[in-house]
Amino acid sequence: MRLTVNGNPIEIDAEAEMPLLWALRDLAGIKGPKFGCGIAACGACTVLVAGQPVRSCVLPLGQVEGDVTTIEGIGRPGALHAVQEAWIVEQVAQCGYCQAGQIMSAVALLDEIPNPSDADIDRTMGGNLCRCATYPKIRAAIKRAAASTGA
Ligand code: FES
Ligand code: FES
Repeated sequence: MRLTVNGNPIEIDAEAEMPLLWALRDLAGIKGPKFGCGIAACGACTVLVAGQPVRSCVLPLGQVEGDVTTIEGIGRPGALHAVQEAWIVEQVAQCGYCQAGQIMSAVALLDEIPNPSDADIDRTMGGNLCRCATYPKIRAAIKRAAASTGA
C-alpha cells in the first residue's frame, strides 16, 4: 500500500484494515502521533489527511484518501510552524503526551478559521483530551499563532 506522508511517498506492507496510526508508528517509524485510547475518544493520534484532522487510531489504511501530515511534517528546527512557535512561547506542554494531537488540531482549526473565537477554540479543541489540563494555555497559544500570522 502506498501513502504519502509529510511529502514523502512510502510503501506500507499491511492489510487495508490496519489503522493508520499503527502503520505510521510501527511500520513507518513516525512516532509523533500517539496512542491514547484507540477508540477515537482522546485525539492523541490526530493527523491531517488531505488537510483535515482525523483520528488515525480508527482510520483504516484502505480509507486514507489524500496526503497524510503528521507533526513531523509541519515544521523543522529553525523553521517551525507558527502554531509550534506559539506553543513554545506559551509553554503549553506539561507531560506532553497529548500535545502532538493538540497541535495538529490547532493547525487544522487555524486553516479553517484564521482568527478563531474562544467558542471556536473550545468547540474544536475540547475533543482533544489533556489530563494535564493545559486548555487555557492551548487557547492562548492558538490566539498567539493567529495574531502572528496576521489574522
Ligand atoms: S488514540 Fe486515537 S483518539 Fe485516542
Ligand atoms: S500535556 Fe499531559 S496530557 Fe496533555
